[in-house]
Amino acid sequence: MTEHPSIVLAAAGITKTFGNHTALDGVDIAFHRGEVHALLGENGAGKSTLIKILTGAYIPDGGVISVDGENVNFTTPQQAQALGIGTVYQEVNLLPNMTVIDNLFIGRQPTNRFGLVDKRRMERESREILTTYGLDIDVKAELSTFSVAVQQIIAIARAVELSGKVLILDEPTASLDRSEVEKLFGIVRQLRDRGLAIVFITHFLDQVFELSDRVTVLRNGRLVGTQAIASLDRTSLVRMMLGKDLAFHHPDVLGEEGEVGETLMEFEGFGLTNSVQPFDLKIHRGEVVGVAGLLGSGRTEMARLMFGIDHADSGAIKIDGSTRQVRNPREAVELGFGFCPEDRKIDGIFGDLSVRENIVIAMQARLGWFKALNRDEQLEIAGNFIEALDIRTASAELPVKLLSGGNQQKVILARWLATDPRFLILDEPTRGIDVGAHAEIVRMISRLREDGLALVVISSELDEIVSYSSRVVVMRDRKMVAELHGADITPGVIVQTIAAQPAEAEA
Ligand SMILES: Nc1ncnc2c1ncn2[C@@H]1O[C@H](COP(=O)(O)OP(=O)(O)OP(=O)(O)O)[C@@H](O)[C@H]1O
Ligand SMILES: [Mg+2]
Repeated sequence: MTEHPSIVLAAAGITKTFGNHTALDGVDIAFHRGEVHALLGENGAGKSTLIKILTGAYIPDGGVISVDGENVNFTTPQQAQALGIGTVYQEVNLLPNMTVIDNLFIGRQPTNRFGLVDKRRMERESREILTTYGLDIDVKAELSTFSVAVQQIIAIARAVELSGKVLILDEPTASLDRSEVEKLFGIVRQLRDRGLAIVFITHFLDQVFELSDRVTVLRNGRLVGTQAIASLDRTSLVRMMLGKDLAFHHPDVLGEEGEVGETLMEFEGFGLTNSVQPFDLKIHRGEVVGVAGLLGSGRTEMARLMFGIDHADSGAIKIDGSTRQVRNPREAVELGFGFCPEDRKIDGIFGDLSVRENIVIAMQARLGWFKALNRDEQLEIAGNFIEALDIRTASAELPVKLLSGGNQQKVILARWLATDPRFLILDEPTRGIDVGAHAEIVRMISRLREDGLALVVISSELDEIVSYSSRVVVMRDRKMVAELHGADITPGVIVQTIAAQPAEAEA
């Protein structure tokens, strides 16, 4: 391996195959002290696999790894940790039923002079650690009682504590809001200035330019190259990732009101105490209603209410003019609703089931179990969606947890499309998805709209919302504060509306 005085962690010729699928093919990479190094590539490019190999979670089929110039053979993540490599894997792997304190200290509990676990110290330090992230929470509470964003911060805090030399973050910002991202970046910069190497995987190009010093791009398991960020612009970076120029599809002008189809859904005074204030919303066939708002503004709560996961305590739903009950998701599915939730790990994906089973499960529920689809029928349906959505998987029989994050997202989308819904709720459908798949999903949303579906799409990507919505509702503090039409549907107006002081907005 070529030596460079500041290289702390390096790998050469890393190869890894799964069955007959080559996930990594002779990849060389080196991380320097005092740098933020972004690792980029499309969904399925091999980023997470490379990280798992560098940290002992997977054993490579070939190649050499070295830490401070010494070859190492990690066979467990604990060995990498012991050498000062802290990692947050893409799938948060904390223990939901243990307390925040236990999660922060597992495997490294401090003991007092009697050799007993020093609980008081753990509690105090837990609070101190989380304060640096602006989190003031009950550290004795079970982890599962907190939101995904909070859990993510706890995973990051734990990795930072463990990272004496290298901190690896696999899509750490996917569930964080802007202020949380800023805190994280502040901490990352401090650690970099202290001489740590930070490895940062993300699909947000802005964040790459904001934070990193160098980037390495992988494509289809191969190294495309490593470059200083200063030598790149967005276009050249995207070209490295895709191997071609991206033709982003700009939207056709969306129909003004009246041009969309007839009313399908009417929510009237629909709400839940302490969750979402009562709102009115009409949704037409062939229309996308975009939902904008900060994380925590009540966007997801609104979606859960619409789909019957939570129970509205005021108001009513009309479908095609008649009042209908949606008491639970099963009834929602029977009425032709579909819902792709925000966090695929917690709500959506059945990791141990195959891609095929994950795709047909909602459809089967809608058909009723006595009309069980046989395996060939299932395979045909799954195969169609794998092709239509370009789901990258070695086979339809692979457990879905083995797919890359973005491809799992597409599987959930396929699941709901297979039910042939008339009303589809998508909560952050493009989160954690690479540029290529991102453009595909945005195109698909427009196609579904053209096919006459009524859609509600929650997204933090304002450019995206603007591109497909014929109306945009804005949520703030668990309340629908505005409905934007026509020329008002611009990122600027949406931001202003989100940011407006409550008094101004209601005036
Ligand atoms: N344990 C496994 N068994 C089978 N295939 C796997 C396994 N882990 C990863 N793969 C496959 O290897 C390829 C690379 O996956 P990886 O998770 O490294 O991608 P990624 O670059 O992290 O993508 P994303 O941006 O979507 O997270 C994918 O095609 C994936 O399906
Ligand atoms: Mg990944």
